[in-house]
Amino acid sequence: MHKSKILVVDDEEIMRCSLSDWLKEDGYDVLAVEDGYQALEKIKKEEWDLAIVDLKMPKMDGIEVLKRVNKSKPGLPVIIITAYATVDSAVMAIKEGAADYVVKPFNPEEISRVVARLVEHQRLIKDNIHLRKELTKRFKFQDLVGKSSNMLKVIEMIKTVAPTNSTVLIRGESGTGKELVARAIHELGPRKKFPLIAAACGAIPESLLEAELFGYEKGAFTGAVSQHKGRIEMADNGTLFLDEIGDISLKTQVDLLRFIQEREFRRVGGNTPIKVDIRIIAATNKHLEKMIAKGEFREDLYYRLNVITIEIPSLRERREDIPILAEHFLEKFSLSTGKTFHGFSEQTMQVLVDYDWPGNIRQLENSIEHAVVVANEPEIHTKFLPQMLVTLETQRYETKPYLSLEEVEKNHILTVLKTQNWNIKKTADFLGINRVTLYNKIKKYQFRKK
Ligand SMILES: Nc1ncnc2c1ncn2[C@@H]1O[C@H](COP(=O)(O)OP(=O)(O)OP(=O)(O)O)[C@@H](O)[C@H]1O
Ligand SMILES: [Mg+2]
Repeated sequence: MHKSKILVVDDEEIMRCSLSDWLKEDGYDVLAVEDGYQALEKIKKEEWDLAIVDLKMPKMDGIEVLKRVNKSKPGLPVIIITAYATVDSAVMAIKEGAADYVVKPFNPEEISRVVARLVEHQRLIKDNIHLRKELTKRFKFQDLVGKSSNMLKVIEMIKTVAPTNSTVLIRGESGTGKELVARAIHELGPRKKFPLIAAACGAIPESLLEAELFGYEKGAFTGAVSQHKGRIEMADNGTLFLDEIGDISLKTQVDLLRFIQEREFRRVGGNTPIKVDIRIIAATNKHLEKMIAKGEFREDLYYRLNVITIEIPSLRERREDIPILAEHFLEKFSLSTGKTFHGFSEQTMQVLVDYDWPGNIRQLENSIEHAVVVANEPEIHTKFLPQMLVTLETQRYETKPYLSLEEVEKNHILTVLKTQNWNIKKTADFLGINRVTLYNKIKKYQFRKK
């Protein structure tokens, strides 16, 4: 087992030396620095198990060091030491998130005891984090995290279709992981040594989509100064991922259909037919059958694409996945920001599991990123979540000191709307305002019925 690493910060040399000596005798790995700036530098660069910080120091006082540590490394416990034993400074230290405080002068046994307790606590937390990581890993397939029966069905389907050459249509609401599923199919299939080329059909303007897919010859149109390969050609031997297929025009649908039938195409402005060997995976969040009924999507293209369908359930339909997804993203953003956390508070996890997630996994991912960035405590509390996830009810348990009037109004309106099932008249009556005012508030706060 490695020795626990302790950073000591004190401007007095004699304190630094004696503290270091005591702690080294106790078997710790100790480094002592003389001011807050040096300490923060060390904390940024290395992993520590504990910091012991003097309260009164000339350049930057201990409370300031503590605040900055909490912002950058909320998981690192800080002991404040102070000779100015007033209730005030101790309360302040604890309020600002110090793990403990010790009053000078202290004897070696006292500091030994406090340090041992915190180091042990840290070790337990680390073991716990480690266990949770292992658990998340167990429920990971390619990059897909999930253990719900709904998700396991999707994974089974991926395994079944990956080795084949069949066209796959992936359906699911926005942010459910359609692209991730497409990549998994490609990676597990025989074409994985060749590229997966994605064409974001919805994001490319119609006028450019044809050239983007099929490429063009020099001089095909103004600005076509040289020959250009399209996505289809780039995907040769690999996979073409037609994303947002429900967003393409009828004209492009015709061109695509022809290509899918013949596996041959011409670049824009070109005459030579070009043959490619590609697998097609398409994705959409649109209801294609409805579009067909309205004449917006070609039925023949639909049948060509819809050979095998993988339907990804919304996050609401697989809430069991939310805790491990949340842990997965917490780890992801802990790594990218260098901040470590003990985990989510129970209340926070409850909020995450209860929320309806109109934006599905992407929204969950963004919410966790938000929390990781703003959190300055070792545990993720509801107050670090984006405001829209947290209703007044949950805030009663874990409150920010003060809510603005606007926040209170917003939360209250939303709560009443939800409990009245979005009945505008009843909600307006309860709130004692007229319907126009309610509509204006709904618009202002961008509430959406899910
Ligand atoms: N099962 C999952 N496990 C881990 N991360 C996931 C999972 N599903 C989706 N994600 C992550 O969520 C985000 C959205 O996924 P993706 O882009 O694949 O969704 P999409 O369905 O294509 O969305 P859109 O319809 O908006 O294009 C990505 O960052 C992706 O990595
Ligand atoms: Mg997508």
